[in-house]
Amino acid sequence: MDTARGWIRTCRSLCVLTGAGVSAESGVPTFRGPQGLWKEKDPMSLATPEAFAEDPKEVWEWYQWRRQRIRGCAPNPGHAALAAVEAAKPDFLLVTQNVDGLHRAAGSRRVAEIHGSIWVVRCTGCGAEREERDDFPELPPRCDGCGGLRRPGVVWFGEMLPREESDAAMEMLSRCEVLIVAGTSAVVAPASGYAALARRHGARVIEVNPDETPVSGICDATIRGKSGDVLPALCYPRSS
Ligand code: OAD
Repeated sequence: MDTARGWIRTCRSLCVLTGAGVSAESGVPTFRGPQGLWKEKDPMSLATPEAFAEDPKEVWEWYQWRRQRIRGCAPNPGHAALAAVEAAKPDFLLVTQNVDGLHRAAGSRRVAEIHGSIWVVRCTGCGAEREERDDFPELPPRCDGCGGLRRPGVVWFGEMLPREESDAAMEMLSRCEVLIVAGTSAVVAPASGYAALARRHGARVIEVNPDETPVSGICDATIRGKSGDVLPALCYPRSS
């Protein structure tokens, strides 16, 4: 822990990759594990273009349920620690797979949401996109402009990542001195390959996760614990 804290404190260029585990202590269910199940369905079978084409109402019911859960959640000390360390670094990027918006709510500004946002809704007909936080009275929602089916502004399995966010992440991973990988099971591509990529470019990689993951073996430091406890200890100077 002390060594990893030293790497973070002294580096100029810091990248952080987060996954659902970082929001777990805020009450947002992770994807893998019993908490992620909705009506006993595996989220992985719902977060696909095929599932949406087959039954848009059911996919929307799942998203409405997630939106309702997340609406009542606040950032936790892990989110706050990442917002604080950003302020101290001239070169910083927080790459998140999370769609809940909690990093921005905590004050993070240099954020690449590579899986989109659950608060953004996009028309599959005309492409109109806007942020909407309220529940929809009828599911699936329809576009006011063209009447087309609207979908959540998130990335589903088999879809491309948003170009700008993905490019920003790749550039940062190739130049950062330190990468923190927190709260991700590291099984979903392309983020599952980010630790190896950063390491190939010479970064020190620090994992924060209560459990072992497929990338644990290539990390320079692995800190087993909850991100709400570990990230404040890692990212704040010892004296604070
Ligand atoms: P997962 O649900 O796959 O993994 C969550 C990880 O967080 C696991 O490794 C847990 O051990 C860890 N964890 C649990 N509680 C934690 C805590 N308090 N602190 C730190 N870590 C904790 O979530 P992701 O890796 O984010 O994609 O999943 C990746 C993608 O798969 C998601 O973005 C989503 C999903 O399908 C799409 O929807 C496209």
